Amino acid sequence: MQGSPGRTPMPNTRLLVLFGSQTGTAQDVSERLSREAWRRELGCRVQALDSYPVVNLINEPLVIFVCATTGQGEPPDNMKNFWRFIFRRNLPSTSLCQMDFAVLGLGDSSYAKFNFVAKKLHRRLLQLGGSALLPVCLGDDQHELGPDATIDPWLHDLWEKVLGPHPLPLDLSLTPPGVPWPSKFTLKFLQEVPSTCSEELCVTGTDPQGPPSELQPFLAPMVTNQRVTGPSHFQDVRLIEFDITGSGVSFVAGDVVLIQPENTASHVQQFCQALGLDPDQHFTLQPREPGVPCPARLPQPCSIQRLVSQYLDIASVPRRSFFELLACLSCHELEREKLLELSSAQGQEDLCEYCTRPRRTVLEVLCDFPHTAGAIPPDRLLDLIPLIRPRAFSIASSLLAHPSRLQILVAVVQYQTRLKEPRRGLCSNWLASLDPGQGPVRVPLWVRSGGLTFPKTPDTPVIMVGPGTGVAPFRAAIQERVAQGPRASPGNVLFFGCRQRDQDFYWEAEWTELQTRGCLTLVTAFSREQEQKVYVQHRLRELGPLVWGLLDLRGAHFYLAGNAKYMPADVSDALTSIFQEEGGLSGPAAAAYLARLQRTLRFQTETWA
Ligand code: 2AM
Repeated sequence: MQGSPGRTPMPNTRLLVLFGSQTGTAQDVSERLSREAWRRELGCRVQALDSYPVVNLINEPLVIFVCATTGQGEPPDNMKNFWRFIFRRNLPSTSLCQMDFAVLGLGDSSYAKFNFVAKKLHRRLLQLGGSALLPVCLGDDQHELGPDATIDPWLHDLWEKVLGPHPLPLDLSLTPPGVPWPSKFTLKFLQEVPSTCSEELCVTGTDPQGPPSELQPFLAPMVTNQRVTGPSHFQDVRLIEFDITGSGVSFVAGDVVLIQPENTASHVQQFCQALGLDPDQHFTLQPREPGVPCPARLPQPCSIQRLVSQYLDIASVPRRSFFELLACLSCHELEREKLLELSSAQGQEDLCEYCTRPRRTVLEVLCDFPHTAGAIPPDRLLDLIPLIRPRAFSIASSLLAHPSRLQILVAVVQYQTRLKEPRRGLCSNWLASLDPGQGPVRVPLWVRSGGLTFPKTPDTPVIMVGPGTGVAPFRAAIQERVAQGPRASPGNVLFFGCRQRDQDFYWEAEWTELQTRGCLTLVTAFSREQEQKVYVQHRLRELGPLVWGLLDLRGAHFYLAGNAKYMPADVSDALTSIFQEEGGLSGPAAAAYLARLQRTLRFQTETWA
């Protein structure tokens, strides 16, 4: 092992770290755990929860669960199967978990269900017979120093507990910080550009074995990329349409499409320059340890150009581990000192001020540490920089209304921090930059069933609340329901909110036409057309009798989608007051009524930050 020749992990200590991660933080924390275990001579494996065979838990002596909680209290996608399994009613208690465990949660205390997943998992593991080494760790994004403020002391206690029964042999001491941990991959440069280059072969589209997936996306032709907000609206929102003819891509209302974005050409060029890499050089990649997968779809051999543009998330905001490793790799005294400071426990406020708060990117940091950047060994690229994650968008069209087409509504993310250059969302800006009018444009995508499921019986009424781009999945649902047969208007009720009728009222003409045909009841809330803000929840309250009648008498389903942070809680409050006023329920009874709707999937939400 690099930095510590001849060391082998203690054979008797089998530490397993299982994570459920949506944006990569829980995975990053898990990898940190593994590095800290390595420094303490402990053997440690790290795996996503859903890629671990859960029945093997029975043989594990010591497991650390690192779990994020997403939006409204949901587990991340890569632990959804585990979540279903562990809460099975018929799972025999005290038979599965004879292990010692600890749960580290990551959440955001401004959301109602703060660290819901970690807390619930902790309780469930106790119920199943596990022994908790520590109380659950409640990592909080809202903490001014980030989740590390809570995680650091918790990890300190964890190692004390873990090493208590397994103390380090006397002749071994902790590997000091500053010695880099082993790298995951070996990257070998080829002397020549290979003659049969697989650059474009690996992402071809249809797979006779099944529909497109993360491993084999469909390269969908983009056919429309149109701004749908007015010229004076603060945000550029695009209606984007893909042609999915012959792709095997299929979906129903409520499903989401995953899109794999790329870095901009100028960022790729700056990065290669900063690191002294030749974009045209080709390499092969080999994991150092068996069982470590190479990045999905990475061709072998691959060019540096492709690695940087399609795999390395150089526009993301680096985490503390990035600074830690960079410090280990730096040979420039001043830069190394600064990097060590930024990655130390005492340097967290500085790190936040320099990087996290202003949303400085990996590329920008590397440009600030030119001597270090110029000497990064290529083997380390994949240890340092996370992979570009696919982004999920609610599908906004139905195949019944637009056969062979898939539409999405994309708000182009751009904002200012104290840095001069505006911050730009990678995927939305990449999509917005593509111009199908200038020649063929193809986008790697695949489809996944979404958080929303609409009633199978078309007679069941639906109430949909979708301010802003939150309306996207409801357009798909309305198109699907209308195509399935004419409906009386109370069957489809849409609450839509936007700032101004002439600036961000998406699909106004379509809704008007459906209303005229009696297929839709549309209720609008224009927040900025009068002195006082009017939001969807105000309209809901005004129409309390209709809402209560549909829910209580006609068994309607209620849906909520959107990106306003406070909107979901505000809408839930409006609903519970309607239950009290129209249904005569007490406060607690109204809350229980809402909880029952949630449990029976008659109240569903899809929200994004
Ligand atoms: P605002 O931007 O004028 O505050 C789509 O973004 C619409 O959702 C806009 O009209 C926006 O209003 C509104 N919105 C903002 N916060 C909201 C909240 N907490 N609840 C409901 N709607 C909200």
